[in-house]
Amino acid sequence: MNKTNQKLLITGGAGFIGSHVVRRFVVNYPNYHIFNLDSLTYAGNLENLKDVEKQSNYTFIKGDITDASFIDSIFKKYNFDGVIHLAAESHVDRSITNPLAFVKTNVIGTMNLLNAAKELWKNDFTGKRFYHVSTDEVYGSLGETGFFTEDTAYDPNSPYSASKASSDHFVRAYGETYGLPYVITNCSNNYGPNHFPEKLIPFFINNIINKKSLPVYGDGNYTRDWLFVLDHAIAIDLVFHKGKNHETYNIGGFNEWKNIDLVKLLCKLMDQKLNRKEGESEKLIAYVKDRPGHDLRYAIDSNKINKELGWKPSVTFEEGLEKTIDWFLENQDWLENVTSGDYQKYYSEMYQ
Ligand code: NAD
Ligand code: DAU
Repeated sequence: MNKTNQKLLITGGAGFIGSHVVRRFVVNYPNYHIFNLDSLTYAGNLENLKDVEKQSNYTFIKGDITDASFIDSIFKKYNFDGVIHLAAESHVDRSITNPLAFVKTNVIGTMNLLNAAKELWKNDFTGKRFYHVSTDEVYGSLGETGFFTEDTAYDPNSPYSASKASSDHFVRAYGETYGLPYVITNCSNNYGPNHFPEKLIPFFINNIINKKSLPVYGDGNYTRDWLFVLDHAIAIDLVFHKGKNHETYNIGGFNEWKNIDLVKLLCKLMDQKLNRKEGESEKLIAYVKDRPGHDLRYAIDSNKINKELGWKPSVTFEEGLEKTIDWFLENQDWLENVTSGDYQKYYSEMYQ
C-alpha cells in the first residue's frame, strides 16, 4: 500500500481519534488526497481540524454512513483507493441506553462502506485496502491475569462491543467471500487532546476544573490499558502502509491502570496544575452505581505489531497524561463548546 498518489477516505475524521489520523495523513502525505467523511454527531467537531482544513490535499464531506445510496454515490464520484474506517458510536454507556443506534452506525454503516468498496474495486483489488479501526472490547473481559492476543476468541459484553465485533466479522467475511483486501486493528483505551468529555479521563478533567463530583463506577477496581492517541495514529499509519492483507493487529500501551488509581493520580496532577491544596480534588470522588455488564479488565498483547512492524508506544503515560491535562487546561473554550447543548441533556439523564 505504498502508492505515491492515492485518494483515501477516512470516516469519522471529526471525532477524537479520527481527527489525529486525518491530521497525520494530510501533513505527512502531501501526494495523497484525504477525504474526511463525517456526519458530525454530538462527538464530531470540525474545530478539531481547524489547522488543516485549508490544505489543498484535504476535503471534508458531511454525510452519514448509514445512508447506502449516498455512500455508493461518493465512492463513484471520488474513486477512492483506500478506506480507513473510524466512524462509529463509541461510548459504552450510550450503547446501554440506545443499542439500536450502535447497530445502525457500527454494523449497517460498516456494511454500506464494505458494499461500496467491493463494488468499486471488484474488477481489480490490486493496491486497494479497507482498514477497519476496531476495539479490544470485542474480546470481552480478562480476569486478574493474561492478555488479549489476535487469537483470543470474541466474547463481547456490551451493545457497543457486540456491534464492533459484528462489524469486524463482516469485514473478515468480505475478505474471505469476495477477496476484499482488508486489515483490522483492535486497540485499547485511548486518551489525549480532543477526547470527548463523556469518557473517563476528559470527563474527570472537566469535572475537576469545575469542582464537580467524580462518579467512579462500582468499587473502582476495573482495569484499562491506556494508550496516547498519537501513538494510535502512528500505529494506524504503519498498519495501513505496511500491514498484511487479511490480518488483525492488536494495539495497546502495556499500561494498565485500575480506575481508582488513575483517578487519584489525575486528582493529584490537577491539584498541582491548578495550584490547589494537595488532596482537594480527591474529595470530589464519589462511588456510584456500577455500569451494567462492566468488563473487569482489558490488557493488550501488542507483540505482533511490535515484531512485524516495529511499533511501540513513543510516549510514556506520565508524558501523555501531562500533555493531555495541559491541552485541556489551555483549551477550556473547546471544552465549554462541546459540553453545551445535547451533552447537557445526556449528562443530566446519565448522572441524575
Ligand atoms: P468518537 O465518538 O470521538 O468519534 C466518532 C466520529 O464518528 C464522530 O466524528 C462522529 O461524528 C462520527 N460518526 C458517528 N456516526 C456517524 C455516521 N453514522 N456517519 C458518519 N460519521 C459518523 O470516537 P473515537 O473515540 O474517536 O473512536 C473512533 C473509532 O475508534 C471508533 O470506531 C471506535 O470504535 C474505535 N476505538 C476507539 C477507542 C477509544 O479509546 N476511543 C479505542 C479503540 C478503538
Ligand atoms: O478499550 C477500548 C474502548 O475504550 C473503546 O473501544 C471505546 O470506544 C472507549 O469509549 C473506551 O471504553 P471504556 O468503557 O473502557 O471507556 P470509558 O472512558 O467510558 O470508561 C473507562 C473506565 O472508567 C471504565 O471501567 C468505566 C469507568 N468509568 C467511566 C465513566 C465515564 C467510571 O468509573 N465513571 C465514569 O463516569
